[in-house]
Amino acid sequence: MPLVNYVDHGGNSTPIDVPANDSVMEGAIANGVEGIVAECGGSAMCATCHVYVREEFLALLPPMGEVEDTMLDLTASERRDNSRLSCQIRMSDALDGLTVEMPEAQT
Ligand code: FES
Repeated sequence: MPLVNYVDHGGNSTPIDVPANDSVMEGAIANGVEGIVAECGGSAMCATCHVYVREEFLALLPPMGEVEDTMLDLTASERRDNSRLSCQIRMSDALDGLTVEMPEAQT
């Protein structure tokens, strides 16, 4: 199973094996990782699953859809170049070791 490193706002990293095809958001919620809220359950409608993706993984991610792009303008914490919605990132072996940082606030 590919591993995701969830880094909280304080810099603490929690490594979790997330099943392939599950989203980064689902991996967090299933394992009680704080810092990802996911109010809409993964429909790209709430922007409370906002993460900052570690630079070296950005090029490996699926392209951002129009809806995700729009929702990222509504995040509680500032949008950055490496902002993504974690519900829109499906895990695969190619993403093993993916590191995402949670923003200061989701709501
Ligand atoms: S869970 Fe709502 S936008 Fe990702």
